[in-house]
This record gives sequence, C-alpha cells and structure tokens, in this order.
Amino acid sequence: MRLAWLTDIHLNFLGGAARTRFAERVGATGADAIVITGDIAEAPDVDVLIAELAERAGLPVWFVLGNHDFYRGSIAEVRARVAALADLRPDVRWLGAGGVIRLDDHTALVGHDGWGDARLGDYAGSPVVLNDVVLIEDLIGLDQEALRARLHALGDEAAARLGADVDEALTWARHVVVATHVPPFRDACWHQGRVSGDHWLPFFACGATGEVLRAAMTARPDARMTVLCGHTHSGGEAKVLPNLQVLTGGAVYGAPSVQCLLQV
Ligand SMILES: [Fe+2]
Repeated sequence: MRLAWLTDIHLNFLGGAARTRFAERVGATGADAIVITGDIAEAPDVDVLIAELAERAGLPVWFVLGNHDFYRGSIAEVRARVAALADLRPDVRWLGAGGVIRLDDHTALVGHDGWGDARLGDYAGSPVVLNDVVLIEDLIGLDQEALRARLHALGDEAAARLGADVDEALTWARHVVVATHVPPFRDACWHQGRVSGDHWLPFFACGATGEVLRAAMTARPDARMTVLCGHTHSGGEAKVLPNLQVLTGGAVYGAPSVQCLLQV
C-alpha cells in the first residue's frame, strides 16, 4: 500500500487547469490512495475541490481539515458538508469523523484536524493574530481569554477523538499512521528551518493531541507511530520517542506538491 501524502495544498489559489495538472501528477505517482493533512481549500468549496481531486487523480482521498478549510464559513458547517460528501462517495473519507482505516494486517490510519490550541508557548504574551479570528465564524469577536478557552476546547475535542481511534488501532496494529493538520509537539513545529518560537507556538502546535499521542506510545513500546502534519508550511522531522516519529510537510501557496510516497 502506497500513500501519496499531501498537505496545505490550498487548491483555492489554483485555476481549474492547474488543479487538473496537479491531480494528474498525484495520480501518476503510482499511489493507492491520497492522504491530505489539511488546508485543502476554503469553506465555500472545499468539499467540491476534494471530490474533484479524487475524480481527477482517480484515487481515494482520506483527509483531515485545517484552519484554512473553515475560512469564510463555520467549523460545524464545513464538517457537516465534508461528512455529507463522504456519505455520498466511498472513495472520500474525512478522518475527523472517527474510525480506523486498515491499511494492511499490521498498519492503521487514523486522524483528526487538530487545532493550534494555545497550550504550548506564550499565549498571553504573544502579539500574533492569525486570520482565523477574522475569517472563521466561530472565532470572530472573541476577546483574548474567550479565544483561549475556544482554542483549548478545539484541542481537547481533537485529542479525545484521536485518542479513542489510536486506542482502537493499537488493539491490532503494530504501526499507526496519524494524519493531523497541526503539529502535536513543539519539536515538530518547524518554521523556516527551526522550531517555532514561543509567540507562534500557541497557534502552530496542538498540545492536547500531543499529550494523548505521547501517552499512547509510551505505554506501547512494542508498537510504532508515524504522525503526518502540516500547517506551518515548513518541512521537518522530529523523533519524539524511540517509537514516535513526526513528519511535518512543507508548502508554498499556489504550488502544491506531493510530500512523499509513504510505503506501508
Ligand atoms: Fe493551517
């Protein structure tokens, strides 16, 4: 089983012909399926563009959503639309809905969107203001403390769902591949060749999912986990535990790429 891993492809920045060329390039990799770790497009047409990619690449698409996928919409609305798309198309699956995909007898794929959950770094002292608070309905107009509470809640939700799926996967799998948008660990939070500083970490890392993944793999030294993530647009690799590796994908707006073909 070969997975073509894509992240932060922001298809809304491409015209139709460029999207077709990209989909055909992904289809030509020889992959058996596509895994996308979020920031696929924006709310108005993310579901349409996922279906288009599946069709034009001729491959199943398994994905999580990133913060940009909710831009110009709300979290509940976008999640409902991609869940409805997945109900219609067996070749499309939003991993955030829960469940475990069996890649082979020993390998499982699980995932959740994750969220920059204000748990790592210095939230109170950070001057960073992401477009999220202007473009995602759920986050508009919140003061700093209300926003912190909302970001914590989004991280907790991701951690709870992901933790349950990881536990289920580990009942039979020896290798668990986790797809998530936001890097779950400080050391995986690459930005321009180095780990993000304390002002960016609250928005670039999901502390809650990291705790759950670290605990799961600490308890299971006989199994291993590969986490795929994106969000920072800067690639890198982190070994969080001997059996827990995190790959963070790089990205350039307007020039989507295949991160790698993952052989499992
Ligand atoms: Fe993102």
